[in-house]
Amino acid sequence: MENNRQNTADREMEIPVSEPERQYYFIERARKNLKKMEEAAGRQLSFCVTTFGCQMNARDSEKLVGILEQIGYIEELEEEKADFVIYNTCTVRENANQRVYGRLGQLGRIKKKNPHMMIALCGCMMQEPEVVEKLKKSYRFIDLIFGTHNIYKFAELLATRMESGRMVIDIWKDTDRIVEDLPSERKYSFKSGVNIMFGCNNFCSYCIVPYVRGRERSRDPRAIIREIERLVADGVSEVMLLGQNVNSYGKTLENPITFARLLKEIEKIGGLKRIRFMTSHPKDLSDELIEVMGQSEKICKHLHLPVQSGSTRILEKMNRRYTKEHYLELAEKIRRAVPDISLTTDIIVGFPGETEEDFLETLDVVRKVQYDSAFTFIYSKRTGTPAAVMEDQVPEDVVKDRFDRLLKEVQEISAQRCAIHEGTVQTALVEAVNDHDKTLMTGRLSNNLLVHFPGDESMIGNYVDVSLDECRGFYYIGKIIGK
Ligand code: 5AD
Ligand code: SF4
Repeated sequence: MENNRQNTADREMEIPVSEPERQYYFIERARKNLKKMEEAAGRQLSFCVTTFGCQMNARDSEKLVGILEQIGYIEELEEEKADFVIYNTCTVRENANQRVYGRLGQLGRIKKKNPHMMIALCGCMMQEPEVVEKLKKSYRFIDLIFGTHNIYKFAELLATRMESGRMVIDIWKDTDRIVEDLPSERKYSFKSGVNIMFGCNNFCSYCIVPYVRGRERSRDPRAIIREIERLVADGVSEVMLLGQNVNSYGKTLENPITFARLLKEIEKIGGLKRIRFMTSHPKDLSDELIEVMGQSEKICKHLHLPVQSGSTRILEKMNRRYTKEHYLELAEKIRRAVPDISLTTDIIVGFPGETEEDFLETLDVVRKVQYDSAFTFIYSKRTGTPAAVMEDQVPEDVVKDRFDRLLKEVQEISAQRCAIHEGTVQTALVEAVNDHDKTLMTGRLSNNLLVHFPGDESMIGNYVDVSLDECRGFYYIGKIIGK
């Protein structure tokens, strides 16, 4: 637990107006409600938070878990057995929504058999009015619905639900506030995500994120540093700085500061060994940042730089505000400054109006940049975005064919890139016991690739030097040669 405040709140006490005090008051109030519920059930009640989507959501879920644990719920990893199920949803592509509806149907049936069960939904999908309408109408068994902007109010909303016995819905359109110092429970003891900013102002024409995550807001650098110092004191040695567009960090602060400067400040934190960040927008990637990356001892040799398309014509329709040439120059500049860097990307195929020629431009970028890995997506029409009403939506069979060709190219190049490091010795942060073979441990290299090697659980959280004996496409099999 990062923030173990003593809660003295009492129901007779006046409800605090300021945050985070107000939420600590409601944590205490929910705690008392939970005690009563547990007495009625004759057992301890459990929760399960299921996260869909990106690392931002994963971090938000850690905050939910932190609050739930302070309230006194115990964690249950199997959703079907939990008394309180929370879905932290994603809506970046339509199939993410479909998955949630499918699973909700199942949950509804389970709830009929468990009188103590509650279900909450939150996250990006809840920021879409049509979704909430549908849930209100067809999924009456849901107890609590809230959005991305008021997640910090989880304890208050939960206490309200517990006391009213009615479905509670609270969605905000946008917010300009950031509430600091709420509890949170990390999934890993040795690494942690750290939000540095929220929201997005870019309005790429296919993307729903600016509508569901609101306007860009940066956290105060002092709050970020303080959080990382606390994390380090608590055993964390690797942080992942999170934001939709970290390269524009700090621009809207009262005392503006660049992302590169923030990185330099974070680098000074003693005991911190590795710094990662995500996601970078090519239009805002500065020379200052490239220089800082080149000089840094702690910033990992990995840059995720979504290209989305290789065609300047499509990039313009996507409102990405860079050209193919600009992107290629950027990639080259980075490789010059940080020679062993791993470059990864996101690519969308089948954006409205994409021709075979446009697609070939994308393949050309993939070949020229030589990505270490790439996330490839089929364009998904998101209602409310400018691209949804564009003409020339590409037929499904054409998109599928392009997607398969792209994937093949990407995978071949990744395997070649991976093979380059075969036979070298590199430092890995030991993260977990291997899922398939319990005699192996899994470690992460600076370039974000994984290596599996013989070891035991006691190594988790340590840095070890591993020889990368065999490349298996996108990971390695190796052995420890020193600590
Ligand atoms: N369709 C397909 N992919 C999308 N992404 C964002 N919006 C869409 C969409 N409508 C992809 C982008 C982004 C990643 C997180 O998701 O590639 O970088
Ligand atoms: Fe979406 Fe573009 Fe913002 Fe990324 S930068 S979240 S793709 S609008």
